[in-house]
Amino acid sequence: QENWIKTIQLDDIPEDDVIGINVEGHPIALYKVEDGVFATDNVCSHGRALLSDGFLEDGEIECPLHQGRFCIKSGKAMSEPLTHDITAYPTKTEGDQVFIKLG
Ligand code: FES
Repeated sequence: QENWIKTIQLDDIPEDDVIGINVEGHPIALYKVEDGVFATDNVCSHGRALLSDGFLEDGEIECPLHQGRFCIKSGKAMSEPLTHDITAYPTKTEGDQVFIKLG
């Protein structure tokens, strides 16, 4: 069963950057990089910080609070002080529309 949810337009995501959106009540971080569009949970697994307020570099998002880094493609925790991964979600674009599959 396909369960794609329509979100924002591709142009709404800044180039090589991240934006925080709400998808059916879930805070989601959407990233637009050279490889395409990626989506993860927006809330850090370590504390109450939004990754969309963080710093995106080399396919990793750095949390603004304690600088833990996650892979934006897998959600994997890449550095201290993180101990838990976040979830990464499938995305697709059709025309200028970005879709996400939550689960
Ligand atoms: Fe994100 Fe601590 S809240 S690293």
